[in-house]
Amino acid sequence: MEKIKIKDRVLTGDRPTGRLHLGHYLGSLKNRVKLQDEYQTFVLIADIQALTDYYDRTEIISKSVFELMKDYLAVGIDLNKTTICLQSMLPAIHELTVLYMNMVTLAQIQRNPTVKEELKNKAFKQSPPLGFVCYPVSQAADITAFGARFVPVGEDQLPIIELAREVVKRFNRLYKNSPLIEPTAILGEAKRLPGIDGQAKMSKSLNNAIYLSDSQQELKEKIKKMYTDPNRIHANVPGKVSGNPVFIYHNAFNSDKAEVKDLKTRYQTGKVSDTEVKEKLFKAMDNFLAPIREKRQSYDGQEKELLEILIAGTKKADEITKQTLNSVKESMGLVRW
Ligand code: TRP
Repeated sequence: MEKIKIKDRVLTGDRPTGRLHLGHYLGSLKNRVKLQDEYQTFVLIADIQALTDYYDRTEIISKSVFELMKDYLAVGIDLNKTTICLQSMLPAIHELTVLYMNMVTLAQIQRNPTVKEELKNKAFKQSPPLGFVCYPVSQAADITAFGARFVPVGEDQLPIIELAREVVKRFNRLYKNSPLIEPTAILGEAKRLPGIDGQAKMSKSLNNAIYLSDSQQELKEKIKKMYTDPNRIHANVPGKVSGNPVFIYHNAFNSDKAEVKDLKTRYQTGKVSDTEVKEKLFKAMDNFLAPIREKRQSYDGQEKELLEILIAGTKKADEITKQTLNSVKESMGLVRW
């Protein structure tokens, strides 16, 4: 008899704080779409984690849950292969967080590079809310609750996944018959996509992002004002290709590799205008985004259907995460009935 192969699981998540942009796409979404063919995939909409930024603007969180779902479905997340679920409706994750809090020290969080970076950017007025301080622990709970072996994420998330690995190692040393699996991060092809302003990272808060849902007009305007080589004041001045956002985007989104090569050569020898480079980039990126935009629009006004999808996915996730919680409590030797 043929042995049934149990598929490894993949889990990833997003904070519902807005629409997704091309940085998210290259960093993680593209990988999710690929991995769902091979692994049992879960996507967690981390609305509790979003409270760390938006606890005083929760209406943004609830609205963004549906924006995220539209982005997922538009880029090719397939509901036959991927389960989409909502963190706040999965109580087992929050119980696990409380248990794990005893296995992580404050110093461990404080020296985490991602946490440090966020603390710097957010500049909390007095001291950071405990919800923020504990989010890496809660993310370890997200990942382990699903028994995920792989976690597709952007580079900035690596230290958070590392912390989850530390929690698992600690737990497995402490308790027998642990159900916990050490997760491995899977990085996207472009580690970090720069913003249209040339800053190292595309991000909503820096206001330098191109969104999956941007209209053709918005795309055109953003490319038009995109940062290029500042020394190139005229088309006949030889320009720098490496590190130049226009060419990083050409590399990532223009499938006509011969055209990209030709543009680069002419750019470096002062034989092409920025306008031509940008017009060709617009064409390439619009070809890439048009079908995504169209599919995304087909979900406009379909919030009821999207909610049904989310309820069904969360129900499935609830069963899985509760099983993990039970095994964790058992492994810890807590009194249960
Ligand atoms: N911290 C992630 C981000 O800001 C979102 C997230 C929440 C996540 N839970 C997760 C990512 C679990 C991977 C796995 O992008």
